[in-house]
Amino acid sequence: MGKKVILSGIQATGDLTLGNYIGAMKNFVKMQDEYDCYYMIANLHALTVRRNPEELKQNALKVLASYIAAGIDPDKSTLFLQSQVHEHAELGWVLDCYTYMGELSRMTQFKDKSAKHADNINAGLFTYPSLMAGDILLYQADLVPTGEDQKQHVELTRDIAERFNNLYGDTFKIPEPYIPQIGARIMGLQDPKSKMSKSSTIPNDTILLIDTPEEIMKKLKKAVTDSEGIVRYDEENKPGISNLMEIYGIITNKTMDEIEKEFEGNGYGTFKTKVAETIIKELEPFHKKYDELMKNPQYLEEIYNKGAKKASEVASKTLKNVYEKIGIIK
Ligand code: TRP
Repeated sequence: MGKKVILSGIQATGDLTLGNYIGAMKNFVKMQDEYDCYYMIANLHALTVRRNPEELKQNALKVLASYIAAGIDPDKSTLFLQSQVHEHAELGWVLDCYTYMGELSRMTQFKDKSAKHADNINAGLFTYPSLMAGDILLYQADLVPTGEDQKQHVELTRDIAERFNNLYGDTFKIPEPYIPQIGARIMGLQDPKSKMSKSSTIPNDTILLIDTPEEIMKKLKKAVTDSEGIVRYDEENKPGISNLMEIYGIITNKTMDEIEKEFEGNGYGTFKTKVAETIIKELEPFHKKYDELMKNPQYLEEIYNKGAKKASEVASKTLKNVYEKIGIIK
């Protein structure tokens, strides 16, 4: 016992990308021995955008299968759906009342997403970070591994927790954001200045984990480069090539220097083919496991039910304590 607690989540939206795999899942796998890990599928957060109900259900299973196929061991880590543990919605509401409009208005993600979905700027999109704060604080998490884009939300979580603790005495552990140095910024193949995202609408911008080898090769061949023709790392002036170098470096454990040497005298064609082959090989065992899991929904159900039971035990304790402190009769 005495292990530090980790909580993280992935939204149950669409098929996952190579960015999710490298930036999130691979890191989750590394941490599962050293920490007490809770990995949640954020299906309530997914409601901020209109979804097809059947797809939303299916997506939750897809994310769960992806977690396991990437190497997360359900016997070591707690895997569950946010919707299964009702304390998330309840604490989310309580924390709404301890979060200021001004704070939420400053959130970059809110600004970006409301610009993107101007026809549906709903209150849930606005209070999204308070629900996320609830996710984290329910488990008294020490560390929250996320991408760079979620750091602001974890910082807000800290502010909310501190505010609550100041009013009612020690209630919440103050969590730290944990941004892995590698893989936190896998960028789009067509728009290498923006994060690779499953919601990207640009064709061939995103590598999905379920892409076939042919699709991966095709997308890599179309990836944006520059006119220099030299495989050289320069994020500022050569964002496309630098991004491909990072992807390649993470999978092969090579440094940028080593990669530059390896492709000295080679054009972008050779380099891109090699990167594609490397991704395809890395994802082969993932595909196999993922397909098996998706054929076995009963097994997936067993996993999330078991995880939810364990998560509920922890979450209910925290919520009970919160309700007692603020005077809510349960
Ligand atoms: N907001 C996160 C994202 O979009 C997903 C998420 C929901 C999350 N709750 C969380 C991440 C709690 C970390 C901790 O990626």
